[in-house]
Amino acid sequence: MLRYLTAGESHGPALVSILEGMPAGLALSADDINVQLARRQLGYGRGRRMEIESDRVMFRSGVRHGVTLGSPIALEITNLDWRQWEVRMDPTPNPDYKPNPVTKPRPGHADLPGALKYGHRDVRNVLERASARETASRVCVGAVARRLLAEFDIHVYSHVLSIGGVHARRVNLPPAQLHELAESNDVRCTDTGVVDAIHQAIDAAKANGDTLGGVFEVLVTGVPPGLGSHVQWDRKLDGRLAQALMSMQAIKGVEIGMGFAVAETPGSQVHDPIAYDAASAFGFIHTSNNAGGIEGGMSNGETIVIRVAKKPISTLYKPLASVDLETKQSFAASIERSDTCAVPAASVIGENIVAFTIAQAFLEKYGGDSIAEIRRNYIGYLTEIRER
Ligand SMILES: Cc1cc2nc3c(=O)[nH]c(=O)nc-3n(C[C@H](O)[C@H](O)[C@H](O)COP(=O)(O)O)c2cc1C
Repeated sequence: MLRYLTAGESHGPALVSILEGMPAGLALSADDINVQLARRQLGYGRGRRMEIESDRVMFRSGVRHGVTLGSPIALEITNLDWRQWEVRMDPTPNPDYKPNPVTKPRPGHADLPGALKYGHRDVRNVLERASARETASRVCVGAVARRLLAEFDIHVYSHVLSIGGVHARRVNLPPAQLHELAESNDVRCTDTGVVDAIHQAIDAAKANGDTLGGVFEVLVTGVPPGLGSHVQWDRKLDGRLAQALMSMQAIKGVEIGMGFAVAETPGSQVHDPIAYDAASAFGFIHTSNNAGGIEGGMSNGETIVIRVAKKPISTLYKPLASVDLETKQSFAASIERSDTCAVPAASVIGENIVAFTIAQAFLEKYGGDSIAEIRRNYIGYLTEIRER
């Protein structure tokens, strides 16, 4: 089973992840991961941290001379501003530390429920781990998953559909080309004509001490029919993708295919007719893809299409009211350094989160301990569905 755990505080010494279940024999370099980490740091509307951090991964185990061993892959990113936080975040009691607890929980953050749940008097003990800095670890893990998927011609793309209510026009192009357009600008929109309007919306929000959210779309091409399963609730691919994406900080909605629009559309315009095309990759095809590539909790051979809604950044420079945990007095919430808009970054994180879940389901179906063994299993399955 492919699984991972992450650890690390936002201002701790490092972020670490352990990915277990990757087969042996996969070519993997730090650059494969660093490219994704760099993409996560881009985007119009990010704050100062992105200038401080230039994330680089270090392999601590599981890879030798550029090839995976089949053992757990340990991945580490050093937090470059750790030096400034060394005393405050020291794991051992530090005589130089002058306690300065954060007692003002910020609305829209884990601060209040986390402090109450864990009995912390210093909200920093919550916010350090709740921070979206943790998503750098998830990008590391997802980047490894992507390398595996690429071996089997499965690719994950994304683009931003709207920010702060400014919508990009839909562009009708294959996913790889949509992705290329998205990569060409700092708001990751395929409709490049909307970029200026989005910049203006972000600038206006910033000037006003406010923040913006938005919607992005993740597309996965080349997924064979049969990943996930209809037989048990926790094996359904749509449910697993939704859980994985919802677990990203600030994600409040996940739609697959037509999503919420199915509720307002007659069945004849929702369900996708089935056809056979001997020239296609998997033989059986659908003549439309409103299901977004998933039926009955399984991939159906079409492109997987997922839309994800991200809320506006919680920390506002025009702060919302909060209550001091100790004095119970009203306060304007304290400000940690903050982004105005992180939707483009979230779309990159979303790609990598989706890559992990697809790779996990892929290995469940074609599992083996080496890439060669998985390839045999995969080719055997493709041959079988083509010959039936
Ligand atoms: C890429 C990314 C960057 C984020 N940057 C910030 C930020 O700078 N300031 C902030 O207040 N929230 C930021 N957030 C959102 C918070 O981490 C998140 O809203 C908070 O942890 C509460 O979790 P919840 O929104 O899932 O309930 C960011 C989220 C993502 C995905």
